[in-house]
Amino acid sequence: MSVIRAVVKGCGHYLPERVVENEEFAKTLDTSDEWIRARTGIERRHFAADDQKTSDLAFEAATMALKNAGMTGADLDAIVLATATPDQTFPSTATRLQHAVGMIGGFAFDLQAVCAGFIYALANATALIESGHAKTVMVVGAETFSRIIDFTDRGTCVLFGDGAGALILQAKESEGTGEDRGVLSTDLNSDGKYNDLLYVDGGVSSTQSTGLVRMQGQEVFKHAVSKLASSGEKALELAGLTADDIDWIVPHQANLRIIKRTAKKMGVSMDNVVVTVQDHGNTSAASIPLALSIAVERGQIKKGDLLLLEAIGGGLAWGAAAVRW
Ligand code: UT7
Repeated sequence: MSVIRAVVKGCGHYLPERVVENEEFAKTLDTSDEWIRARTGIERRHFAADDQKTSDLAFEAATMALKNAGMTGADLDAIVLATATPDQTFPSTATRLQHAVGMIGGFAFDLQAVCAGFIYALANATALIESGHAKTVMVVGAETFSRIIDFTDRGTCVLFGDGAGALILQAKESEGTGEDRGVLSTDLNSDGKYNDLLYVDGGVSSTQSTGLVRMQGQEVFKHAVSKLASSGEKALELAGLTADDIDWIVPHQANLRIIKRTAKKMGVSMDNVVVTVQDHGNTSAASIPLALSIAVERGQIKKGDLLLLEAIGGGLAWGAAAVRW
């Protein structure tokens, strides 16, 4: 049966120049490089310069993705940009990026599902392509979490970093089997009864301020492994595939212990898991496209590989996607 698939044409990423090693935090807080590495796998993160906004990071990642795809901004019909740290309350960061990359016409919008944002954006972009609303869509995850970190809270401030990643998808007529290239399935979930586990204590209609990240880390950890594994299994099932078919799990890069436990629960060897968390920490919606683009650069991900992407974050919101590269 002939179907329209959203096929990957290119990817890119950007990490700001300023690198902050774990030791930096030990200067002002009761923490250590040893604790941070052992509990999270994080060694360093990048922070945006004072004059760098989320859209600037997104622009760098988008420029690399367009080059990688052999395209220009004028080739795009739509941009779906996932962020929890937009430049402004409005207009959308996506429309800033639209203008910056020289995209003529089409449409661009932001989407907010915090750390699960890239999976949600990918699902939306795929739906736009499969329904014929757009042919070529750029999916972006971009964040400046350094702007909403409480640098006096050792339980959260050591975890997050800034960055951006982008993926370009294009419509392609395909066979409708699990052997097709492109996004084969997506699984999205959220449960608002867990709002209080991970949130920002401010906002437009509540405090008229931005607020700072608050998290019950251990509680989020407990939900993460089981929810990521079950969503991953659901995405595989929807694609008519099993864990044995996976070439690479590309997980949300929040905590190496969560990444390892989820892979083990799914019966996938760590040899088949992309890990980049040590170099950029938790970059929320940017972490999966960052990991994808870095893994392509490393020569890990190759054309035809089956990838399972999975993420969880504030909401709680979580999901997974099966993608043949
Ligand atoms: O992307 C969104 C999804 N978010 C996540 O995936 C985050 C999920 N959670 C986690 O990654 C982990 O829960 C953390 C890394 C946040 C914390 O690790 P943990 O093993 O769950 O530690 P904990 O919260 O149980 O804290 C253990 C101890 C506590 O001290 P006491 O009460 O045992 O004396 C904390 O106060 O470690 C202490 N602690 C720290 N110590 C040194 C917490 N943060 C630090 C720190 N340095 N930075």
